[in-house]
Amino acid sequence: MKYLNIGTPFETDSIVDFENIRPVESLSDLLDGTGLSCDVKDVTTLTYKFDSNDKVYGLGENLRGINKRGGIYESFCTDDPNHTPDKRALYGAHNFFIVDGKKSFGVYIDFPTYIEFDFGFSHKDELKVSIEGKDLRLYIIEGDKKTIVSKFLKAIGPSFLPPKWAFGFQQSRWSYPDNKAIREIADKFIESDIPCDTIYMDIDYMKDFKNFTIDEERFPNFESFVKDLKDDGFRLIPIIDAGCKIEDGYKTHEEGVKNRYYCEDSEGKPFVGAVWPGLVHFPDFINPEARKWFGDQYDFLIDKGIEGFWNDMNEPAIFYSAKKLEEAIEYASNQKGKNLGIYDFFKLKDQFMWLSNNKEDYQSFYHRVDGNTYNHYDLHNLFGYNMTRAAGEAFERNHPEKRILLFSRASYIGMHRYGGIWTGDNHAWWEHLTQNIKMMPSLNMCGFLYSGADIGGFGGNASGELATRWSQFAVYTPLFRNHACMGSRHQEPFSFEDDTTQVTRDIIRYRYAFITYLYSEFMKARTNNTLLFRPLSFDFEDEHCHQVEDQLMYGSGIMLAPVHQANAKGRYVYLPEKMLEYKIKSNDNYALELRESGHQYVQVQTKEWLNYLRQGTLLILNEVKNKVEDISVETLDLIGFVDKDASYQVYSDDGISRDAEASYFDIHVKYDGQIHLSHTGDIGCKEISYDIVTTDNKRHKGVYHV
Ligand code: NOJ
Repeated sequence: MKYLNIGTPFETDSIVDFENIRPVESLSDLLDGTGLSCDVKDVTTLTYKFDSNDKVYGLGENLRGINKRGGIYESFCTDDPNHTPDKRALYGAHNFFIVDGKKSFGVYIDFPTYIEFDFGFSHKDELKVSIEGKDLRLYIIEGDKKTIVSKFLKAIGPSFLPPKWAFGFQQSRWSYPDNKAIREIADKFIESDIPCDTIYMDIDYMKDFKNFTIDEERFPNFESFVKDLKDDGFRLIPIIDAGCKIEDGYKTHEEGVKNRYYCEDSEGKPFVGAVWPGLVHFPDFINPEARKWFGDQYDFLIDKGIEGFWNDMNEPAIFYSAKKLEEAIEYASNQKGKNLGIYDFFKLKDQFMWLSNNKEDYQSFYHRVDGNTYNHYDLHNLFGYNMTRAAGEAFERNHPEKRILLFSRASYIGMHRYGGIWTGDNHAWWEHLTQNIKMMPSLNMCGFLYSGADIGGFGGNASGELATRWSQFAVYTPLFRNHACMGSRHQEPFSFEDDTTQVTRDIIRYRYAFITYLYSEFMKARTNNTLLFRPLSFDFEDEHCHQVEDQLMYGSGIMLAPVHQANAKGRYVYLPEKMLEYKIKSNDNYALELRESGHQYVQVQTKEWLNYLRQGTLLILNEVKNKVEDISVETLDLIGFVDKDASYQVYSDDGISRDAEASYFDIHVKYDGQIHLSHTGDIGCKEISYDIVTTDNKRHKGVYHV
C-alpha cells in the first residue's frame, strides 16, 4: 500500500496503521501499474478505462449493487430518508473502492468533502472520480481483491468492540415515549417468551429534545427505572443528537457557548440551525477540546446506569437555518397578493423545499482546529465521525474497563474504531431488504463490522411477511435491531398475526443459538482483517459468482441465500460447487440435503430460510436463552459437511471488558468411514451433539463428551 499527499490534506486520522504503507514522491510512482490517470486541479479527477469484465467493489454505505459498475455515487454525508434508486449518497462517506478485472487495485481517497464516483454511468467504459479540491491524500493498494481489503482493514485499524449483549435482539421505535410504554414492551417480550436484550429510547426521553437531559414527567426516577429493566435483562439505549438546543440555563448550551465549543458563523457567533429541539448550535466535534467536552457529557446517562448509545442527525441534518428561513419567509411575503405564474410558484415552493440540508448553510459555518479555521463544507464528511469519536474517546478515557455500545448514523472511514453504524431511514419495502443484503459486504470492506439495517424498515408499514423475511436475513447482521418511524404500523415481533409471532420467536431464538458462532466470527474478522459478509466472487473464481447479488458468503464457509421477494415460497440459488443445504425450519428444526453445483430452485416456506455449507465447514449452535448473558457453551450442537477432516475454532471472552482475555476451543472432526471428534482448549464445553453429512452422502449423528 502506498500514498501520496497532494497539496496540503487535512489530517482526518482515518488511517492509523502506517506500518506497511509507504509514501511515494510523485503521482506516477503512485499510479504505476494501475492504469489510472490523475489530473490535479480545482476539481481533481481520477480516470480509468474499464475493461469489459472489470467489476467495482466498495463505497461502503451506498446504493445499488455489490458490483458498483454502471452507477454514479457521491461522497457527502446526507440525511435523506428516501433511499430510492436514483439517489447517490446516504449517511456515510466511504471513499474506498476496488477495481477488479484485467487489473486489480484498491483506491482510498482521504478527502473530507464532496466526491463524485462515476463508475461507467456517463460513459460505460470510463471510470471517473471527481474530487472537489486539490488537497487530499491518495492511497493505492496493490494485490487481488481479498488482499486489498485486508491491507485496507489493517491500515484503518480494528473495529470497535461491542459488548457481547449487543449481539442480542434489540427493539426500537420512534417512540416509546414514556416509562409506561417501555415497561409494556418489556413485559410483552417476557410474556411472549421472545429473547430481547435492549430497548431503545428515541428523542422523547429528553426534556424538550435537549441532549443529556431526562424528561422527568415521562421518566420519573429514571435511575431506578433503568435498574428495574436491567434486573429483568433489558438494557436501555438512549439516542443522542448532534444539535444542542439553544436555551438559557441549559448547561450544555451555556458551557458550549462560553467555551466556544460550537461551530461558528463568519462573524464568530455560534451558528444557528434547527433540528428536533427547534433552534440549536452544533458542537465543533472536529476541534479536540470541544470533542472532549461533548464526550464527557455522556457520563450524565452512564452515571444513571446506561450502557449504550446511538448518535443521530450527525451528517449534520439541518431542517433549516435561522437565516435561510427568514429569507424564505421574506420572499414568500413579497409574493402575497400576486397572481403567480407557474414558474414563480415553483420558485416560491423551492424557497422552502431547499431549506433542509442546504449547501449554502453548510458553507456558512466554521470549525476551529489547532488554531486554524475551516469552512464546514470542506470538512463536512468528518462531522458525524467525530461526534462518535467524541463519545468513543470519552468512553475509553472515563470507563477504560468496560465496553459501551455505540453506533452512529453518519460516518467516515475510520469511525468504525469508535462505533458501528445503522443504515438509517430505510423503508418497509422489499427493495430495501434486498439493498440491505447487497450493502453488508461493502460496509464490511470499509471496516463497519458492527452494522445492520432497521429490520422491517423504518418508514412505511411492514407486512408480517416482510418483517419475517427481513428478520431471517438479519439473524446474520451483528446489529440485530427492529426500528420504525413514528406513525408507522407497529412491527415488534408480537405486533402481527399469532403465527407471525410464533415464526419471529423462532427466528430470534435461532439468533440466540447462533450467538457463539456469530461472536466467534465477528472477533476473527476483527482480528484477522477479513470480511464477515463477502460477495461470492471473493471465495469462488467462477465467472457467474461475479454476477450473483443476492447470495453472500458468511463467516467460515457458510453461504446465505435469503428470500427477499413478496409471496415467494422458494427461490433460485446458484451453487458454485457441491454444498450441504441447511434449511432452517425453526430454532430447533432443520433439514440437511446435499446439493450438486449449478442453478437450483429451492422451496423455502415463509417460516423457513436457507444456508449452505461448503465442504469442510462446521457450524456450532449453543443452547437458547432469552438473554445473551445467560448463554453458556456447556452443550453445543454441531452441524457439518465433511470430506476427511474439518475443524472449527470457537472464540470466547467475558463479553464486557475492553481488555478481556480470549480463550479458544478447537473442535476437530475426522472421517475415515466413521466420525471421530476431538478438541483442544477449554471454554467450559462439556458435550457436543453432532449432525454431520459426509461427502459420500452419509449422515452421522452422535454425542461427543469433551
Ligand atoms: C432519524 C433517525 O434516522 C431515526 O432512526 C430516528 O428514529 C429519528 N431520527 C428520530 O429521532
